[in-house]
Parts: sequence; C-alpha cells; structure tokens
Amino acid sequence: MSSKKTAGTVAAVNPQALEAEAVRAIEAATTSEELDDARIRYLGRKSALKLALRDVRDRETGKSLNELREHLEAAVARRADELERATSTRRPEEAFDVTLPGEPLPRGHLHLITQIRREVEDVFLGLGYQVVDGREVETTRYNFDALNMPPWHPVRSPRQTLFLDDDTVLRSETSPSQIRTMEQQDPPIYMITTGRVYRRDTPDVTHAPTFHQVEGLAIDEGITLADLKGTLLHLARALFGEDRRLRFRTHFFPFTEPSMEPDVSCFACDGGGCPTCKYSGWIEMGGSGMVDPALYEFVGADRYDPERVSGFAFGLGLERIAQLRHGIPDIRLFWQSDLRVLSQF
Ligand code: DAH
Repeated sequence: MSSKKTAGTVAAVNPQALEAEAVRAIEAATTSEELDDARIRYLGRKSALKLALRDVRDRETGKSLNELREHLEAAVARRADELERATSTRRPEEAFDVTLPGEPLPRGHLHLITQIRREVEDVFLGLGYQVVDGREVETTRYNFDALNMPPWHPVRSPRQTLFLDDDTVLRSETSPSQIRTMEQQDPPIYMITTGRVYRRDTPDVTHAPTFHQVEGLAIDEGITLADLKGTLLHLARALFGEDRRLRFRTHFFPFTEPSMEPDVSCFACDGGGCPTCKYSGWIEMGGSGMVDPALYEFVGADRYDPERVSGFAFGLGLERIAQLRHGIPDIRLFWQSDLRVLSQF
C-alpha cells in the first residue's frame, strides 16, 4: 500500500513541468516579497517538491528531484541578486560611489594676526634669528626700570599701564624681552619675540587695550644703523612687496640712542599719495634705534662691553601691519570673532 502511495505522490510531480513553471514564477518576481512567495510555493516545506522528496523511495527519483531542488534554489538566489542590484541602481541616493568627492566640512584657519605673526617669524628665522617667548605678566623692573624709563615717564602711571600690584604689570610693550634675553645669553644675539601687549586705552578704530607686537634685537661686534635699516627694509619688502623703500625719521625712546621711526613707501600708491598713506607717500612702521648703553649696564657691562659690542632694536605692531596690508578699517574687528570678517583672510 505504502509503495503505491509513494509512487502516486511522486508521479504527481513532473520534474520538467515543475521546473519550467517554478523558474517562470521565480523570474517573474519583481520584488523581494514576490520572490519570497515563489520560493515558499516551490521550495517551502509544504511545496509539492518537498512533499515528493519526503516520500522518495527509489534512487533515480530522489536524484532528479534533488537536482530540481538545486536548480530552483539557484534560480531564487540569482533572482534575489538581480533584484538587489536593480533596486540599488533604481535608487541612486542609496548607491555608494566611492569615487565621488566627499561633502566638504566647514574648516577653520589661523586668525590673520597669527598668520602675520608666523610670516614675520619666518622672515627672521630666514635671517638666522631665534624666536623667543616673552612674558605677558612683567615686573615694573623689566617693563620700565631696565628699559631706562625715567621715574616721571607717563607710561609708569596706572592711567596708561595695567597694574596687577605695585610691582607687577601686564607688559605695555614687548621690549622687556630684550632685557631678559640679554640676561640669559652672551653676545652675539639675534632674536625676535612676538606676542600680546596691554595698554589702558579706550577702544576705537586705531586703539585696542590688547594688541600684538614684534620686538627685535641684534647685538654683535660692529652693528650699525645701516644694519638696522637693511633688516627693516628686508622685512618691509617681505610684508609689502619687493619695490618698497624705507626711510628713517629721528625720534626718542628711552632705550635707544639714537632712536628712529622707520617709514615704508606706500605699497598702495608707491609713494604718490593716497588714502592708505594719508597722502604722504609713506607709512609709519613702528619704533627702532641703536640699543642705549644704559641697557648694557643694567644686564652687566662685563658681558656687554659697549666698547666692543653694539646693537639695534625695533618694535612694530602686528595689527597695524594687518590693517594696512588688508585695508581693515577698525582694529576692534580683530577681536570680534565675526566670521564674515575672519573668513576673508
Ligand atoms: N616699545 C616701543 C613701543 O611700544 C616700540 C619700540 C621702539 C621698540 C624702539 C623698540 C625700539 O625695540 O628700539 O612703542
């Protein structure tokens, strides 16, 4: 009886007809749900094929039914693959093209003052200078006394300088680092320092209570005013262009003798006269001069013998350089963190 039943069930499956029908259904599936339906219908536990396989008694039938199963499984896998590929090309937003450039992320950059500071440092590193760090908190001894400031000098007043206590100030200029460097090193010295200085100024277009200076100091045998002029001309050309010229106006600083204010020929009009140079053809760069021997005395004339060594010094404002070169009308813009301004540089 049982053999008859088996024969009957198996006979109900015509492998060729079933394969043709199933492959047609599998290939007709246009979604993964439809494919799943076809797979369950032809390969599921209750499918004619699985039922027939369960009742198989002879080797030949088993072999052909198993081959049929393998063909159908392969057809399902192939169709699944095709569908997957079709969906991903049909929805390009889901496709991943590794050759496309990425989404640009907003990127910051150095503040203009930092850029100019590094530019100036590069110029002097190229001349063999060392870049030293100064202190923003200084004693009155280094900020005033050592720089030969007379007791009555107005910069010693709390109306001009920010005092932390009677003997301590926020440095009003970078010049104290000249003294600290001379104390720490013997001549020859070729150094610059850059950094913040503080003054009790009311902010306006040209004044900020904090700004930046670059201070330079060169001490060696045989240093002359011509070396100072050549060095500042080299800097002016690096900052404002190769055609710049330099002139000196005499001035007074307590720590230099003689003292000079360097002017650079206007880069905007080349000296003809324009709003940038206030129609003078020249732009003021800062202060400079030959190191006053009083400073050597302060650090020790045995190490700095004024009969043997001489030197020059200078101090320039970095904001001023930036304002001139980039036409920035108001010094307060450097401190306002307004990206509309900062992102231009
Ligand atoms: N310290 C001066 C100032 O802040 C600038 C200056 C002038 C620096 C002459 C120097 C110098 O080194 O020699 O106004």
